[in-house]
Amino acid sequence: MLVHVDPNPDATPHASFWASSVKKLAALGLSLSLAGAATAAPRLDVPYVPTPHDVVHRMLEMAEVQPDDYLIDLGSGDGRIVIAAVQNWNVQRALGIDLDPQRVEEAEENARAAGIEDRVEFEQGDLFEKDISDADVLTMYLLSSVNYRLRPVILESMKPGTRVVSHAFDMREWEPDETDTVGNSTIYLWIVPANVGGRWELTTADDSRVELHLMQRFQDVQGDARINDSAASFANASLRGDRIRFTVAGEEYQGRVEGDRIVPAEGDETQGWHARRL
Ligand SMILES: C[S@@+](CC[C@H](N)C(=O)[O-])C[C@H]1O[C@@H](n2cnc3c(N)ncnc32)[C@H](O)[C@@H]1O
Repeated sequence: MLVHVDPNPDATPHASFWASSVKKLAALGLSLSLAGAATAAPRLDVPYVPTPHDVVHRMLEMAEVQPDDYLIDLGSGDGRIVIAAVQNWNVQRALGIDLDPQRVEEAEENARAAGIEDRVEFEQGDLFEKDISDADVLTMYLLSSVNYRLRPVILESMKPGTRVVSHAFDMREWEPDETDTVGNSTIYLWIVPANVGGRWELTTADDSRVELHLMQRFQDVQGDARINDSAASFANASLRGDRIRFTVAGEEYQGRVEGDRIVPAEGDETQGWHARRL
């Protein structure tokens, strides 16, 4: 059975409405087809529903998109997120990937109409097979179940600090760093956290040794500390991308995680310290 999904850009139904419809369709094992498709429709994980332009704008604003960012939109539809990033945020590298060749054609046509065809790339392919590790900003309007499948790829392959923005759908236990709403749409932003879980030795400016044991769940960090083999207080830990903050024995540390080292970040007042993974 074929199901027609109305591609009218301004007729986006409430996200939860279409999400529940999509889930029902998926549960019934129906194949989704688009109006006018001449050949067999690809088996999409998510049907085509465009993000309203004001939501696109807010998504890119929340991601604090910069010209030197590489942006990837997974399931890029008519290309509107990629095109807006280039047109309004002057992004130099932007890629949209979509399984449906009709969408890729539309996106390329829209980029040509906007006069930016040589600054964007649209690729026909499966988002689960794409290497996304180079992106600085990842945008998505998919489904929670699809986001959930992407979650380990995002956490394990993307650089700390990568901004991930999703229209309407969350990442289950991985709480967003920020959310906002535009009309009926919820927007989620996550900052890919550095990997900090484990044991560290922090050497202070006056050469004292602090042993830290950090326990990490996504961007949430708890820990304990020992100074010269005695327990010390560890508090106020936070992690955003590669930036970590915590207080040991009342002293605040603001660091930047560089693999197996943590060094003082700009603005840190307790300079002269460093930490290394044990
Ligand atoms: C809800 S639309 C979002 C379109 C666009 N990102 C936007 O926000 O306007 C989801 C898109 O994902 C595409 N898609 C579905 N499954 C896919 C897959 N496995 N790989 C790549 N694209 C896929 C669909 O063709 C559709 O264009």
